[in-house]
Amino acid sequence: MLNKEIIAGLKNHRTPFYYYDMDLLRRILDIVRTESKERNYKVHYAVKANFNPVIMKTISGYGFGADCVSGNEVAHSAENGFAPDDIVFAGVGKSDEEIELALNTGISCFNCESVPELLVINDIAGRTGRKAPVALRINPNVEAHTLKHITTGTEENKFGIRLNELGEIAELIPTLKNISFKGLHFHIGSQITETGPYRNLCTRVNEVWEWFSERGYENLNVNVGGGLGINYEEPDTMPPFREYFEIFASHLDSRIRGEISFELGRSLTAMCGTLISRVLYIKEGVSEKFVILDAGFTDLLRPALYQAYHKIENLTSEGERGKYTVAGPICESTDTFGRFVDLPLTQRGDLIGIRSAGAYGESMASRYNLRNLPGAVFSDSL
Ligand code: LLP
Repeated sequence: MLNKEIIAGLKNHRTPFYYYDMDLLRRILDIVRTESKERNYKVHYAVKANFNPVIMKTISGYGFGADCVSGNEVAHSAENGFAPDDIVFAGVGKSDEEIELALNTGISCFNCESVPELLVINDIAGRTGRKAPVALRINPNVEAHTLKHITTGTEENKFGIRLNELGEIAELIPTLKNISFKGLHFHIGSQITETGPYRNLCTRVNEVWEWFSERGYENLNVNVGGGLGINYEEPDTMPPFREYFEIFASHLDSRIRGEISFELGRSLTAMCGTLISRVLYIKEGVSEKFVILDAGFTDLLRPALYQAYHKIENLTSEGERGKYTVAGPICESTDTFGRFVDLPLTQRGDLIGIRSAGAYGESMASRYNLRNLPGAVFSDSL
């Protein structure tokens, strides 16, 4: 929550910037640590959600692992307090250079997405005199019921190994001398707010685990990915962490003896971040009144890319309410954060807060139009 004191502290900073409520982040990390430990689950933080070093160090300080999707994320995680053997590396397109870097870092697992990748990892591991720990990312063919652009676990999708390829893989694995087969990895999508997809995922995990178990692999680890959604409409409502872990506790096969792990990104960092920007101009359209901000989609891409909703608040006005279309300065019409947004009287110079932006906000920023990258301000140092 942004109270008057915090807002006063933010007024003198150069906009746009991300404001991070570090107490809130720590509160969330506390809950997730308690809830996951209670069930003996491991949580890897999905670094792609936010790789700001201050955020990363806070998360690694809680003992979470890191889920990475590039060589740079692997190196950055190691530099920001994550133990190498707590780092996993996923991604459909790992380059040779990235594979070598991850091997040299000594990561705990490659989440391998295809047969050709398995062969390349085996080759590079052999060449560098190492044995590569590998989990197979299985495409579970489970519908996630989320935004079309961020679903990943259905069959017609570039991610993971298809279920009908398992026979071929099971025959191949024993022939790969430089690979140590550690576990199974699944991920069905992101911003999932229903429980049904997770129950379906558990069913599929159990089937695949049993299939491997019958072939002599009884001790495989199981990584069920991430995806727990947040409430963008009500930015102060906590995600249902307890219920989330409970679904897995009650639906995963109790014979699974290996480590059970999760890869949470959004649900850990989204709530603590607010994009703060300043109103540059108020512009009268034909039927809309435009608020032009100094923040655009280069600072927060989600609304332009996915038509995603973020709650928008005027932090400095209590005037009469009206409807405004809130847009950025970039020369593209998708550079709009919300249409007909209910706001108090909004004028040049007002501070606007775009909520729930701590995940996939700063990490997706770009320099299009040669704009500056957004800054970052932390509550601890206000
Ligand atoms: N594990 C894997 C293999 C993933 O692909 C992802 C997200 C996660 C874990 C973390 O998922 P989370 O807990 O954050 O839902 N840019 C999009 C989201 C893309 C998510 C990609 N993968 C957005 O702004 O909504």
